[in-house]
Amino acid sequence: MKLFDSHAHLASERFAEDLPDVLARMREANVLGCMVMCDPGDDEPDHERALEIVRQNPGFRLAAGVHPHNARNWGEEREKTLRALLALPECTSLGEIGLDYHYDFSPREKQREAFARQLDMALELDMPVQLHIREAHGEAMAIMQERHKAGRLPRGIMHCFSGSWETAKVYLKMGYYISLSGVVTFKNANKLLDVARNTPADRLLVETDCPYMAPVPMRGNRNEPAFVRYTFERVAELRGADPEQLAETLWENTIRANS
Ligand code: NI
Repeated sequence: MKLFDSHAHLASERFAEDLPDVLARMREANVLGCMVMCDPGDDEPDHERALEIVRQNPGFRLAAGVHPHNARNWGEEREKTLRALLALPECTSLGEIGLDYHYDFSPREKQREAFARQLDMALELDMPVQLHIREAHGEAMAIMQERHKAGRLPRGIMHCFSGSWETAKVYLKMGYYISLSGVVTFKNANKLLDVARNTPADRLLVETDCPYMAPVPMRGNRNEPAFVRYTFERVAELRGADPEQLAETLWENTIRANS
């Protein structure tokens, strides 16, 4: 059995000290695939480090995009760097991009601009997007549905999805994949349990979003790709699925969704 972590910030400073150990534990846990995220819009961009990690580890792939937190830095310069990354063979997805009205680290106007520009870019380059939507599902859905009707919505993944099954259905209808993080293992996961149970098997992914969001029983610690197995095990249990078979399906989904 092998697992794929569909969203990991391995180039984060929080792995700078002990990345070889993190990678060794990952292999031991049979987490052999990884989408490594990078953000050329960050105040301290991590794309060079992320690319180095991807190149050194077979089975790893790169995703590049300007996060809504960093949308305030969006402009010609960052767009140029992003385009260069997206042109690399290692880079298979544009993300994470979206709207975050929980933290509001960037003005909403700027978040909407960076989001729209990057959705257009994904269409232009025929690449999937990884979406980060937090406390902005109403607006994100409106934008996406309008684009969907006009044939202007790129394909993609709802990363770290933590909404209700009603919300998930809307994204599934638009062809999106649902990626579940450690949140599904939390005691207060209630509404997410139905999402884990009801999402069609061929549209489901699992991720860590490490170093954040560590699943139970690691909650409160730094998260790492090896821990995706706890999320996977919880999802398999909720679905009453055969773990071997589910692992294989999720592996194929992750590759297909990020291609
Ligand atoms: Ni993330």
